[in-house]
Amino acid sequence: MKVLGIETSCDETAMAILTDKKEILANQIYSQIETHRRFGGVVPEIAARNHLLRIENLLQKTLHAADLQLSEIDHIAVTKGPGLMGCLLVGVGFARSLAFFAKKPLIPVNHLEGHLLTVRMTHDVDFPYLCLLLSGGHCQMIWVENFRKYKILGETIDDSIGECFDKVARMMNLSYPGGPEIEKNAEFGDENRFYFPRVLCTAGRLDFSFSGLKTAVKREIDKFDGNLEQQDVQDLCASFQKCVQDILSYKLCAAIKKIKNKLGFFNFAIVAGGGVVANEAICNQIHTIAEEHDCDCFFPDKKFCTDNAAMIAWTGIEMLQHKVDCINEDWKPLPKWSVETL
Ligand code: KG4
Ligand code: ZN
Repeated sequence: MKVLGIETSCDETAMAILTDKKEILANQIYSQIETHRRFGGVVPEIAARNHLLRIENLLQKTLHAADLQLSEIDHIAVTKGPGLMGCLLVGVGFARSLAFFAKKPLIPVNHLEGHLLTVRMTHDVDFPYLCLLLSGGHCQMIWVENFRKYKILGETIDDSIGECFDKVARMMNLSYPGGPEIEKNAEFGDENRFYFPRVLCTAGRLDFSFSGLKTAVKREIDKFDGNLEQQDVQDLCASFQKCVQDILSYKLCAAIKKIKNKLGFFNFAIVAGGGVVANEAICNQIHTIAEEHDCDCFFPDKKFCTDNAAMIAWTGIEMLQHKVDCINEDWKPLPKWSVETL
C-alpha cells in the first residue's frame, strides 16, 4: 500500500509517499523560513499564499522522486488540523480535488497525532510511551497508552517553548528562527551569570508557562540599555537555555512519577518530537532523565522531528491498520483539535 501525505498546517509545504512497510519513497519539503525571517515569525496570510504557489510543483517533484504515477497511489492523507486556517485550507482543498479526480480515498489526519506516531515510523517502538512535543506551535507532554488512547499530562498555558526561544532571540536581535541562534551563542556563554525563574516548577505541576520567563529575560536585557556586548548575548543565551533545560527536567520527572504512581505503568519509553528537539543540550537532558528512570529513549531523525509529510502519511497508514472509519466522513479543516478527542 502506498500513501501520499500532504502537510500545509504552518509554514512548510510538504509531501511524502510512504508504504505500509515503512519505506519512504519520497519526502519533499518547501520551507518558507527565508520568507518569514524578516518578519521575525510566521505571517499566516503569506504562508497560505506560498502554499498555493508551490503545491502543484511539489506534487510533481514528489511523484518524480518516488518514480510513481498518481494512479499508483492507494490513499491520500492530508493534515486536517490543528494549524493556521488559511494554510490548512490550501492543503485540504488541493487534496480533496486530487482525491476526487484520481478517485482515491482521502484520510483526514491530526497533525499532532502525526508527531506522536512518527517515532513508530522511524523506530520499532511499541506503546505505551511518553511523548514530549516541543515545537514552535506546541509544548505538550502526552501519555500515549495505545493507538488513539492519548492523555495530555501537561501543556503550556501561554507561549510554546519554540515561540519563547524565537521571542527571546528577537529581543537580542538574533535572526529567526531563534532556537538555533540561541543554541549557537549559548555554547560560548556562562549559564550561571543570569538567573531566570524556573516557572511553575513546584508541587509536581505538569503544565508549562514561558511567558513569565520571556519577560524575565527582557527585564535583564533592558538593564543594558541597548549596549549588549557579544559576551552578554552569549551569557544571556546560556542562562536562558539552562533555565529551559531545568524546567524540562522538572516536568519530565514529574510526568514519569505520575505515570508510575497514578496511572500504574512502570515499563514505558520516552520519545520526543518538534523542532526544539534539534537542541543538543535539551536532547541530552531528556536522555539523562530517561536513563535515570530506566526508560528507553527514542528521537526520530531531525527531518522527521520538524513538520513533514511522512508523518502525515504514516498516521494515515496507522489509521487504516487500526480500521479507523474516516474515509466517508464529512469534515472540514480545524484550527484547534486536541488529540484527546480522537
Ligand atoms: O517543529 P517546528 O519545526 O515547527 C513549528 O512548530 O512550526 O519547530 C520550530 C521551532 C522554532 O521555534 C525554532 O526556534 C525551534 O523549533 N528550534 C530550536 C532549535 N532549532 C529549532 N529551538 C531550540 N534549539 C534549537 N537548536
Ligand atoms: Zn508540527
